[in-house]
Amino acid sequence: MEKKASSFSGQIGFVLAAAGSAVGVGNLWRFPYLAAKDGGGLFLLVYLVLVLTFGFTLLTSDIAIGRRTKQSAIRAYETMRPKWKFLGILTFLVPVLIMTYYAVIGGWITKYAVVYLTGQSAAAAEDGYFTSFITSPVSPVVFALLFMGVTAFIVYNGVEGGIERVSRYMMPILLVLVVVIAGYALTLRHEDASGQMRTGLEGLRYYLTPHMEGLTVSRFLQILLDAMSQLFFSLSVSMGIMITYGSYVKPDVDLNKAVNQIEIFDTGVALLAGAMIIPAVYVFSGTEGMSAGPSLMFVSLPKVFAAMGKAGTFVGILFFVTAIFATLTSCISVLESITANCMEIFHSGRKKTVLVLAVIYLAASAIIALGYSIFYFEVQLPNGSAAQLLDIMDYVSNSVMMPFIALLSTILIGWVMTPDYVIDEMQRGGETFRRKKLYRVMIRYVAPVMMLVLFLQSTGILA
Ligand code: PHE
Repeated sequence: MEKKASSFSGQIGFVLAAAGSAVGVGNLWRFPYLAAKDGGGLFLLVYLVLVLTFGFTLLTSDIAIGRRTKQSAIRAYETMRPKWKFLGILTFLVPVLIMTYYAVIGGWITKYAVVYLTGQSAAAAEDGYFTSFITSPVSPVVFALLFMGVTAFIVYNGVEGGIERVSRYMMPILLVLVVVIAGYALTLRHEDASGQMRTGLEGLRYYLTPHMEGLTVSRFLQILLDAMSQLFFSLSVSMGIMITYGSYVKPDVDLNKAVNQIEIFDTGVALLAGAMIIPAVYVFSGTEGMSAGPSLMFVSLPKVFAAMGKAGTFVGILFFVTAIFATLTSCISVLESITANCMEIFHSGRKKTVLVLAVIYLAASAIIALGYSIFYFEVQLPNGSAAQLLDIMDYVSNSVMMPFIALLSTILIGWVMTPDYVIDEMQRGGETFRRKKLYRVMIRYVAPVMMLVLFLQSTGILA
């Protein structure tokens, strides 16, 4: 009952909340690292083309389904076609899994923000600092619980009073911070031990130039798949989150504009994150440290901040506060999506539902946070990398389930419901859905094929 009454106050509230979900650690850390690894400007070009075609198609579908059915994933798919309820359940399981580890990462970021705020930036730059932090059985748990608690508190306060209110503050501030840090990164210059001078502007050039050397068909395919899985994760599509947020959008909001604005916000922050991280890393450690993967944020960057001298502490604070805002607004969207599904299924009120979920996920976060100490074990994933508990959850939800769900949902919309189901919703208030033809072709033909390839590749079936 309460659920039906919940809504965002209007277009801006919705766009900022949805952008809050979309902009997360994926933008700040995964995007720059992929760009550095996958040929700089080449990756950017591929990514931009995908945003305008594939990302547009999936985001439009999720949001339109949400607003049209006014339900979260499980009920939404059931409303469309009762036989497809299983797809709703699968979709619901993605945030259920992500929630187990997202607050743990949020906790790591919070820890680093505290470290910089208390002036311990030199310690954070030492070798082994990150490893000794995450393998401790106490500190990562405390920070994960704190992050989880704050997330639950915001969701407890409801859609407009909690989620929208927080996003309205955090997202504009985040944008300003990213611009400021990127601007600062471009002014950096540093002479290394061999007397070679490197500048931020050269780093920017390295980031934007398409590196075509040694480009083969299979490498291009790899870049394409990297960009595609990044886009998914980044837009928070195919996990029911945008369906839930879409269900809170009032009928008079122009979804065409909203979709564009969300995409611009998300892509803009990703591009800016690249423009702040790549030049900074380049100036202090050349092109080596960049493809470091996940350790970029917690290992390479602290070294860069230390090399900046006094300013480094300040920049470190700004950076980790930015990262907290990005992660918190994403984390609340994950919990909101689980909450909304549960409220519909169990006909329960928001407050009670959030309290029960909070207890479950406080426990789950603690277990995952202990995956590097007490519950440590390692397995090998089909794609060859070694994984701990957190990586396994990440792999199952993002690499296996999301492409599979996207594949099935493009078939459902493209062939069972037909694209008009979404197009009609996009034109509900008399607006014109301009990219109709593109949408039809994408949802019926291109997206299903791309999703199938991505699924086969990320599960290791297609080596
Ligand atoms: N979209 C977020 C990012 O880019 C990640 C995210 C994943 C958010 C899952 C919500 C749910 O980091």
